[in-house]
Amino acid sequence: MSNVTILDHPLIDHKMAKVRNKETDTKTFRETINEIGGLMAYEITRNLATKEIEVETPLEKTICKVLSKEVVIVPILRAGLGMVDGIQSLIPTAKVGHIGLYRDEETLMPHEYYAKFPPSLPEATVLLIDPMLATGGSVGAAIDALKKRGAKEIIFVGVVGCPEGVEYLRKNYPDVDVYLASCDRQLNDKGYIVPGLGDAGDRLYGTK
Ligand code: PRP
Ligand code: URA
Repeated sequence: MSNVTILDHPLIDHKMAKVRNKETDTKTFRETINEIGGLMAYEITRNLATKEIEVETPLEKTICKVLSKEVVIVPILRAGLGMVDGIQSLIPTAKVGHIGLYRDEETLMPHEYYAKFPPSLPEATVLLIDPMLATGGSVGAAIDALKKRGAKEIIFVGVVGCPEGVEYLRKNYPDVDVYLASCDRQLNDKGYIVPGLGDAGDRLYGTK
């Protein structure tokens, strides 16, 4: 059974009110999605593995902890790109892979159009990111693509999910930990999350 965690934090909640508001402009929406990504990453990375190294301070030698595995951030294009800067500002050494997926508006099935990952993928902790977890089809397809290239430790970081998407990941990807800022009520008949925040890609890039 995959672990699903809803990150309940006053600063995240405050920013969620902004991105849900239909009056929020593109610039503010983009900035706030990035800020939410950063706050979520701060909480999620609490459990990353560390190793001890010896460091010499100006006074003496001491033992310090550093990350023991590389972190690879993988945004699902387009909307996942909106969270990269916020997360990379916390983990500047992280590499970034990309997977391009779009959802057919009729069938809601994901279609892959791009994939490029760093060679360290099999040994890395992968943070797969997308603001929206709706049917779960896109995240599932991204996980399949990552596993096909050898990824072993995958954590999904989303902003808004719904019971349908959470159930899909729980059933099909029990080895992937899932973090969301909110699990909303349901999907509507067009596959949109309600109450949700609308179309994340369009709101990030002003395409509608
Ligand atoms: C949106 C969103 C997710 C996907 C979620 O992307 O960013 O990737 O839909 O839906 P699912 O869980 O039912 O698969 P979209 O396909 O609209 O592409 P875009 O990011 O390029 O706008
Ligand atoms: N993709 C989005 O951008 N928003 C939704 O509500 C569902 C899928």
